Amino acid sequence: MAMAGNAIGLGNFLRFPVQAASNGGGAFMIPYFVAFLVVGIPMMWVEWSIGRYGGKHGHGTTPGILYRLWQHPAAKYIGVLGIAAPVAFAMYYSYVQSWTLAYSFFSLTGKYFGISTQAEMGAFLNSFNGTTESSYFSGIATAYTFFLINLGIVFWVLVRGVVRGIETLAKFAMPMLLIFAIILVVRVLTLGTPDPEFPERSVMAGFAWIWNPDLSLLSEASVWLAAAGQIFFSLGIGIGSMQCYASYVRAKQDVALTGLTTSMSNGFAEVVLGSSIAIPVAVAFFGVTATEAIATGGSFDLGFQSMPLIFQQLPLGEFIGTLWFGLLFFAGITSTVALTQPPMAFLQDEMGWPRKKAAMAVISFLFIFGNFIVFNIEHGVIDEFDFWIGTVGLVVFSFLEIIIFAWIFGMDKAWAEITEGAAIRIPRIFYYMIKYVTPVSLGILLIVWTYQAGFDLLLLRNANPEDIPYLLLTRGIILGCILIGLFLVRRVSKSWAEVPSQN
Ligand code: ALA
Repeated sequence: MAMAGNAIGLGNFLRFPVQAASNGGGAFMIPYFVAFLVVGIPMMWVEWSIGRYGGKHGHGTTPGILYRLWQHPAAKYIGVLGIAAPVAFAMYYSYVQSWTLAYSFFSLTGKYFGISTQAEMGAFLNSFNGTTESSYFSGIATAYTFFLINLGIVFWVLVRGVVRGIETLAKFAMPMLLIFAIILVVRVLTLGTPDPEFPERSVMAGFAWIWNPDLSLLSEASVWLAAAGQIFFSLGIGIGSMQCYASYVRAKQDVALTGLTTSMSNGFAEVVLGSSIAIPVAVAFFGVTATEAIATGGSFDLGFQSMPLIFQQLPLGEFIGTLWFGLLFFAGITSTVALTQPPMAFLQDEMGWPRKKAAMAVISFLFIFGNFIVFNIEHGVIDEFDFWIGTVGLVVFSFLEIIIFAWIFGMDKAWAEITEGAAIRIPRIFYYMIKYVTPVSLGILLIVWTYQAGFDLLLLRNANPEDIPYLLLTRGIILGCILIGLFLVRRVSKSWAEVPSQN
């Protein structure tokens, strides 16, 4: 449940619809499934097994784990990504999560009830998060209050620790989320064509848009990167959290079946439940063109603009809206806690800090840099974080990790780690996938994407000139997290110098 909570989150219900909608609907789904099979499932096994391997040797975070796999200074510095990136990730992720808490409250009070158009729903969201002024909210105070409440709750879970905090939360939140998602999907399926004046706007048109394969965009590396990035984001791989949770697994406990179960439950929550809610609803109410336009407006916006409309069509809509956003909040918090666990584990295990002090440090970071995000959202800082950390960063880190595991540690030893204690027989073909296909695919993806789009993005060629200072500051924050990580790892790793053997 904790692993499912780690994986299933805002990515499945809010980010996936946006990625699918802004990358051509049916054009996105092909690279998405290819990425799931070729990189998602293999990387999940890689991360579960290197996490368990690290745990056996007393490390729960990637600097120590990768150093165990490859006793070269480069390994521990590459591993810094697995503690710095999740902190940067949690900065923006936890803020979006606080919106779900706020929207849960707005559902309860019926604040958005009566709004029936896309433009108004968008104005409501933009007024809430301070992007534009309108009469729904006077200023950013409401969003800020929820930002603070949310950080308080995350702090409380962190202070309670892995078993009393994370496990208890996951056992409660995950089954509830599933039940309410299923109820909502059933309601979406019976929505039909809400406005008979626009027969082309229907739930079925929404499904047709994402499920009719479209081969026209397959030569665009950016669509492949977006698909792979979504697989990584959603599965929670390439960030350090899976390895950290897996380090708590016992030495000979299965990772093969549980890794696969994590991938499959996340896939089910995303492809079956996630794709059957926000997109069909948005298409039914707004049509395909407007849905695409909303999706390009912000990485997480679509669900906030489409789902409140369906609650108004339901009996007990206030109640169901409250529960739905409340449960999204639980899905989000189980992932935020997973993102904050690598830095927590690093501070506690490698630096010897007590849990409370570690939690204070992590939450202070989220608070300080969260302020930068809260007050500058209109300059696209969330999307900038989400692009470098939530898309490119995950792919880069996964690539480095699999090279270290399959090529430097060695594929035979890696396979022995993956299959040790396995409750299922993993087909031998995955040996070759992990050794060749996954790293080569990730490498090609990064090279082609850099060539096609990377330089323009890196040099901010298409950015709005007014936004450039804010986007550069965002990059500065990400780099700052990495530099702090490098500094700390350099300090603590002196005691790792004498590693007796690799096994
Ligand atoms: N894996 C988490 C999600 O999908 C981060 O939201």
